[in-house]
Amino acid sequence: MRHQFLLAAAMLAASTVTTMAQILPAPQTTGGRPLMDMMAQRQSLRDIDPNSTVSRQDLSNILWAAWGITHDGKHTVATAMNRQELILYVITATEISRFNPETNTLTVVNRGDFRNVVGRQDFAKTAPLNIALVVDTNKQARTEFQAYTTGAASQNIYLYCAQAGLKTVVRAMLNDAELSKAMKLPENELLLYVQTVGK
Ligand SMILES: Cc1cc2nc3c(=O)[nH]c(=O)nc-3n(C[C@H](O)[C@H](O)[C@H](O)COP(=O)(O)O)c2cc1C
Repeated sequence: MRHQFLLAAAMLAASTVTTMAQILPAPQTTGGRPLMDMMAQRQSLRDIDPNSTVSRQDLSNILWAAWGITHDGKHTVATAMNRQELILYVITATEISRFNPETNTLTVVNRGDFRNVVGRQDFAKTAPLNIALVVDTNKQARTEFQAYTTGAASQNIYLYCAQAGLKTVVRAMLNDAELSKAMKLPENELLLYVQTVGK
């Protein structure tokens, strides 16, 4: 009986872990290297070492740069009519998670290494971090506005990576259908780009 109880408790704990949000370190939202210098240094870099890592602090900072909350419920990126349609997913070697900017947390949506469907270029499949830029088409249906929002977020990731000494490249050459499936995207969420990050 006691054995059954312990087993049930362990199973409950395991299922709780899968749905619990992971708290990120607070983003570092001040300081850094001069913006003008970082604009000059922004570039796409693809020679990412498969053995490199991106710290949780850098991940938190990247997500804040791309889609963090600044003031009055607004984000680091402008959105047409303040529709706030952007959703970021984090793809690592162990899981795919959804970023919750209000709580600075990640919610795991799928466990496992899905980097084989993250794009058609080999460097992306071994990079430590890929960030999927997704839009909620219920919030914003106009493609030109969706493109603006994702483009602005991407540029912020580029600038953060330049100042943090990280390599990054935004990619449109994706396995859209396979990756969307791995991300378990609902009908209204559209995958537009994936930005690869590493060292
Ligand atoms: C919308 C868009 C899609 C892109 N897609 C890819 C891609 O699929 N794969 C890739 O390696 N680079 C991709 N890039 C990166 C461009 O190749 C890169 O920005 C361009 O060569 C200029 O280099 P720079 O970013 O270093 O200035 C893309 C860039 C943009 C803006």
